[in-house]
Amino acid sequence: MGEMLRLDNITKSFPGVLANDRISLDVREGEILALLGENGAGKTTLMNCLYGQLKPDAGQIYWRGRPMEIPDSHAAVSLGIGMVHQHFMLVPVLSVVENVSLGLASTRGLLLDLEYIETRLNTLSREFGLEVNPRAVIWRLPVGAQQRVEILKALYREIQLLILDEPTAVLTPGEVNDLFAVLRRLSARGVSVILITHKLEEVMAISDRVTVLRDGRVVETVKTSDTTPHELAHLMVGREVIFDVHKPPLKQGKIALEVQNIKAVGERGALALNNISFSLHEGEILGFAGVDGNGQQELEEVLCGLRRIREGQVFLHGQEVSHYKPDQLHQLGLAHIPSDRLDRAVAVKLTVEENMVASHISKPPYSRRGILNPKAIRQFVQHSISTFNIQTPSPRAAVATLSGGNQQRVVLASALGHQPRVLIAAQPTRGLDVGLTQQVYERLVQERSRGAAILLISTELQEIFRLSDRIAVMYRGELMGIAPVEKTNVNQIGMMMAGVRLEQQEDSLP
Ligand SMILES: Nc1ncnc2c1ncn2[C@@H]1O[C@H](COP(=O)(O)OP(=O)(O)OP(=O)(O)O)[C@@H](O)[C@H]1O
Ligand SMILES: [Mg+2]
Repeated sequence: MGEMLRLDNITKSFPGVLANDRISLDVREGEILALLGENGAGKTTLMNCLYGQLKPDAGQIYWRGRPMEIPDSHAAVSLGIGMVHQHFMLVPVLSVVENVSLGLASTRGLLLDLEYIETRLNTLSREFGLEVNPRAVIWRLPVGAQQRVEILKALYREIQLLILDEPTAVLTPGEVNDLFAVLRRLSARGVSVILITHKLEEVMAISDRVTVLRDGRVVETVKTSDTTPHELAHLMVGREVIFDVHKPPLKQGKIALEVQNIKAVGERGALALNNISFSLHEGEILGFAGVDGNGQQELEEVLCGLRRIREGQVFLHGQEVSHYKPDQLHQLGLAHIPSDRLDRAVAVKLTVEENMVASHISKPPYSRRGILNPKAIRQFVQHSISTFNIQTPSPRAAVATLSGGNQQRVVLASALGHQPRVLIAAQPTRGLDVGLTQQVYERLVQERSRGAAILLISTELQEIFRLSDRIAVMYRGELMGIAPVEKTNVNQIGMMMAGVRLEQQEDSLP
């Protein structure tokens, strides 16, 4: 295999941060290279240098053996480099074809162009198994489909190297398999891929080699077939990582949250929650497993006051709160780790400090009778930055300048910082590296021991099984059952995820 790309001693710093420190790596023709590293290790920065969106301070890029300058992303695209960013770059109000057309040189007038693009997109979709309707408007598409659009957009430009920055963080397991099939097809045609992911099983499943970064430097590049997930985790964090959570026995308290026969309508107008009832106790973790899109997000929104209930009731510590607003629920001790963190949870233009205290600022000790207490605020912020190990040059840095995973730590710090009585934790470890994932697990278990009632929503089955006391599954907006973790197994949960009710399964047992 010939060499496609070589990075030689790439260095890039930001004020107060050396993000890339003399990084060298190479990618061969048709190879899938995984780029692995903790949150803030410098992965996105390095890829932005390669894609022409950042200018390295020093170092050289070689493309098929020749030294290259890549001053902007146009230059990258014309070399044959495509990139799907950690946060998508599509224009939400435009259609798929229109998005693909952006930045292409017009050859025969816009309308004819669009028609031509549509035809070619259909061919590419079929060829690579990337199903999308070219006329659909982006914001109406589920996130998996938006990602297919990003990939199609890159393929349309006849790429030779595709960079994917945490593409699987937003995908369901089925979609991950589909994506990997596309990557294999690309690789078979000689297209190279650089894949960033925090999931070690994915690295093992799809990559040919792995380059591991730590603190802006290359630790090592290894052949995937010569390594193990344990070794990779070790290389990444520089110490032994223990993949286990010690969970003390359940001490179930009073009912903290009760949901009775709720119905709610989803974004596209259909019934997204159909007659859901359950209760959540103090000191327990109730996990909602299952494939995204079966009502989990709507449930999350309803419980946090972000979506209206059509029918039914919700009680918090015995008090009816069915139509309460988010801040009223917050006053009653409900905290929320939202699944779509960037849309909802952090204001990226504000500082780390502002984001952390925003939802607590009206309460003591941060303010009394409308007067702020800067000392208390500063103490809380300092404490959170160290507890959650948030890498930021200063509490006053804008959240936008933090790495993806560090932005999520800000959200966690804000949600967990004030001893919530009820916590709605949706995809709490999405986008976090293995070390922090482990810390979040430990933290959730601590909150449980303290007596918090935790509702966990996660598409990661391992996470659900490790943390939950009881496991619930919804299918197409209906509850298929709730089983105590010690009385169930992956098969049974899998059946419920496919729409088989728990009672039906038990009936059919001999
Ligand atoms: N525009 C910027 N201004 C200032 N600092 C930045 C900027 N972009 C990145 N950084 C800093 O550079 C470092 C590396 O960030 P980068 O986004 O490359 O990490 P990453 O490996 O992609 O992490 P993650 O897994 O969390 O996405 C971080 O400390 C980050 O705060
Ligand atoms: Mg990143």
